[in-house]
Amino acid sequence: MEDRGWGYVLSLPIHDLDWNPKLVECQKVPDRPRDPAKWNEIADVVSALSIPVIANGDVFEYDDFERIKSATGASSVMVARGALWNASMFSPEGKVSYEAVKREYIRKCILWDNDLKSTKHTLKEMIMHYSCLELPEGKAVIKSESMADLAINIPSSFGDYLIMGLHPSITVMLSLLASLPVLA
Ligand SMILES: Cc1cc2nc3c(=O)[nH]c(=O)nc-3n(C[C@H](O)[C@H](O)[C@H](O)COP(=O)(O)O)c2cc1C
Repeated sequence: MEDRGWGYVLSLPIHDLDWNPKLVECQKVPDRPRDPAKWNEIADVVSALSIPVIANGDVFEYDDFERIKSATGASSVMVARGALWNASMFSPEGKVSYEAVKREYIRKCILWDNDLKSTKHTLKEMIMHYSCLELPEGKAVIKSESMADLAINIPSSFGDYLIMGLHPSITVMLSLLASLPVLA
């Protein structure tokens, strides 16, 4: 393959398969995230290779998955910013609102005990994209020192936090009740 100075060409070996897909990000070293992804250059890479290629860059809407695949001939697609900003982009029914995604994201992070630093990073990315870190919500995320802080500081998620906080004790209580002998 001609060396055009790709910013990144990463090989992802998958040992139990007899092929190695290549992930091609057609961003050259001087390119910045705001520069448009060069899907036509991914197509050049795909046509030069006989192995599966994963395309990446500027996929923000559900329809973009098919668009990038048909523009490049790549076998599959990787997403970074689009998923970070609004994970509902994977839904064929279309995106839901930023508020709904943010609320569900915090809910899942609490439920799955996600790392606080990672949770805050994603929330900050979402807020920077849809709103502004200087607004009260952004400041609240920055100053949060625990998942409880996040739930309390972002009011829309507080109810969920309470419900999930109560959930284990309700479960224990119900188990205890279930183990009591039936009084007749
Ligand atoms: C939070 C974040 C972390 C990233 N980390 C890396 C990285 O460690 N190495 C890398 O080669 N690219 C990294 N990238 C670049 C992405 O892999 C991707 O190529 C780029 O964001 C373009 O795809 P997108 O339009 O779907 O965002 C990162 C992007 C984001 C948003």
